[in-house]
Amino acid sequence: MTTTVKQVGDYKLGKLIIEGKTKQVYDVPTFPNHCILLSKDRITAGDGVKAHDLVGKSVISNKTNGKVFEILNKVGVRTSFLKVVADNAFLSKKCEMIPIEWVTRRLATGSFLKRHPGVKEGYRFNPPKHETFIKDDANHDPQWSEEQIISAEFKVNGVIIGRHEVDIMTKTSILVFEILEKVWQTRNCALIDMKIEFGVDSAGEILVADVIDSDSWRLWPSGDKRLMVDKQVYRNLSTVTDEDLDTVKRNFEWVADQLDHLLPPNDHLVVIVMGSPTDKEHCNKINYYCEDLGLNTEIRVTSAHKTTQYTLDIISYYEGLNIPIIFIAVAGRSNGLGPVLSGNTDFPVINCPPGSKDDLERDIWSSLNVPSGLGCSTVIYPETAALVAAQSIALHNYIVWSKLRVKRLGFFKSLTKCDKELGK
Ligand SMILES: Nc1ncnc2c1ncn2[C@@H]1O[C@H](COP(=O)(O)OP(=O)(O)OP(=O)(O)O)[C@@H](O)[C@H]1O
Ligand SMILES: [Mg+2]
Repeated sequence: MTTTVKQVGDYKLGKLIIEGKTKQVYDVPTFPNHCILLSKDRITAGDGVKAHDLVGKSVISNKTNGKVFEILNKVGVRTSFLKVVADNAFLSKKCEMIPIEWVTRRLATGSFLKRHPGVKEGYRFNPPKHETFIKDDANHDPQWSEEQIISAEFKVNGVIIGRHEVDIMTKTSILVFEILEKVWQTRNCALIDMKIEFGVDSAGEILVADVIDSDSWRLWPSGDKRLMVDKQVYRNLSTVTDEDLDTVKRNFEWVADQLDHLLPPNDHLVVIVMGSPTDKEHCNKINYYCEDLGLNTEIRVTSAHKTTQYTLDIISYYEGLNIPIIFIAVAGRSNGLGPVLSGNTDFPVINCPPGSKDDLERDIWSSLNVPSGLGCSTVIYPETAALVAAQSIALHNYIVWSKLRVKRLGFFKSLTKCDKELGK
């Protein structure tokens, strides 16, 4: 039986648009084109054949989903999620949903093994394996090929789902998996596989929608299947006692709590050092690109030629912080700064000399033709300097890594969109 709700948090709810097995979706009269998704205290498996009430599940699920989507939004993935508005509800862009489940797997387990006899459990997919299933409970969500999805010509909020759209969703699913795999690695948990769904909002944009919670993935602490903390524990139960349900709930709670400890500390610094205040504008451009990639930055002025000791003091200061540092040296004419920094620290130094094209053709050699034993590199565009710095920091920082990864997907989206507009 459906019980409708009138208000959650500060939001008055409108019409109940749809009710599924685990959520209710409401209109929000004060916020057109948006909806509120209210979680239910209900756990189901086997297309709803197995179902139990589980008090507290809605709050845990909403917390996990909120934290996951906050990370995805922070790194620039396009999603429908806006914000948590109550302990069991969140505000989202209202979408027309594409009735496909997009599954990404790192290790073979579960239904994959049944569909591919002979493959051993734990077979590692590299790159991740991607699969799609049509949402059709009555027929147990059968697998669908890319060709079947394109041939169905789904029309969703005015968008016809064709080759271009399927490519974007396939790549986005893999990207979301890889981001969350990195996120879980920081808690020593292996993300084994996961499913996501997409919707199209009122502006015609394809967004990662629905929810991502302990129902969406397999998660094995320390990579050990015996320690699994996801819904598979519930799926595996032949009889379900109150004690079993309590174990499932405690697992879900543990997962939600782990997500509280994810954010990496502000554990790095990109120090943009200019040889003269006249290089400020060039430094500001580098700084802009660095900040856009999620890097922490500082800008300093010192001349290796004129304030040599001060330059060495600056190096000592940053060495003493005991965090990863990248120096970007900005010096025109004869670049003494970058090579002097590089000769006196073991942190990476990137030369990014300022000046006009004519100046650069002459001056660049002072950055390139460095004495033996120095490892500084040289780039000429501010954006390149920021990207090189980001790639180094990304080795140990999943937020910066994810921003780079999302940026690359952006190139694919925009270039293939232009190609599509040419009628290809
Ligand atoms: N942002 C959104 N806008 C509109 N509808 C959404 C949004 N996110 C999710 N939905 C839809 O909300 C409905 C209820 O979710 P729920 O997960 O409870 O359904 P379900 O019983 O699991 O059915 P399904 O198998 O379709 O997911 C689903 O049909 C889902 O597609
Ligand atoms: Mg669902």
